[in-house]
Amino acid sequence: MNNNQKVVLVTGSSSGMGRATVLYLAKQGYFVYAGSRTPEKLFDMRSENIYPLKLDITDPQSVENAVPKIKRIDILINNAGYGLVSTVEEVTEKEMFAQFNVNVFGVMRMCKAVIPKMRKQKSGVIINISSFLGKIGLPLLTFYNASKYAVEGITDSLRYELKDFNIRVHSIMPGFFDTNFARDNLVTNRATFSTDSPYAKMVSGLAPVIVAQINNGNSTDEVTKLILDIIENKDSLARQTAGDKAKKFIPMKKELSDEDFERRVRAYYDL
Ligand SMILES: NC(=O)c1ccc[n+]([C@@H]2O[C@H](COP(=O)([O-])OP(=O)(O)OC[C@H]3O[C@@H](n4cnc5c(N)ncnc54)[C@H](OP(=O)(O)O)[C@@H]3O)[C@@H](O)[C@H]2O)c1
Repeated sequence: MNNNQKVVLVTGSSSGMGRATVLYLAKQGYFVYAGSRTPEKLFDMRSENIYPLKLDITDPQSVENAVPKIKRIDILINNAGYGLVSTVEEVTEKEMFAQFNVNVFGVMRMCKAVIPKMRKQKSGVIINISSFLGKIGLPLLTFYNASKYAVEGITDSLRYELKDFNIRVHSIMPGFFDTNFARDNLVTNRATFSTDSPYAKMVSGLAPVIVAQINNGNSTDEVTKLILDIIENKDSLARQTAGDKAKKFIPMKKELSDEDFERRVRAYYDL
């Protein structure tokens, strides 16, 4: 690392958007700490601009061990996340807490750890990878939706809190993207996915459609370019969409009444 390089910390770097972001920003000349629960998975990415960092955002001790080792952090990208697929009726305590522990408290833990450095530096950029499902509800994804709505709330509140310290906070709301998300990081509730579930019809109709839409989703290039644009443009909008589904549904949600929007979503997903 040289003294002129901007330093980025990315969470959830071993696959998908996180991995693509690490590689892209390193190529652009940034020095990137690539946080992952399994940094061994990142060894093939190692370069003079990438440092694989052991980091589990659900473990306060892991965050405390990792962040102070880094002298300067100019940009934090809160990317790590997964999706719980469960009805509210059938969810377990463990599942619902785990969903918020990663997608919400993980983001807060990372902000809490990194903000003191940025505040002392009198500059910083925090980018939260949310989802278009942070503004739109869908059945079976209530906990994921709620977690991403929370990420939007964190972004909105933190922007006020950190403005005087010259720290910008942004969110990106991706639509569906072809990553390992549907293959490795959709956690399904056993009862919801049983044929005995009172929701079996909805599960068999909707779940395969969502999985297919993710696996046939947009390329992560769009997200990585948007991240670079937000980092380099201090007038970037607070929140931005990426990908076809987000660009279709988010403006529609703004324009229509809640009831009309719900009708459109019901028709689209046959709900
Ligand atoms: N793909 C989509 O369609 C889509 C759409 C909207 C939003 N998003 C959001 O985009 C972000 C990146 O997802 P992706 O699509 O790139 O998926 P991905 O390829 O599955 O990567 C997700 C990363 O999150 C981390 N992660 C997953 N489960 C975790 C857990 N239980 N505890 C801690 N970290 C965990 C993992 O990082 P490590 O194993 O390296 O720690 C993993 O590399 C997520 O926040 C996701 O919600 C995705």
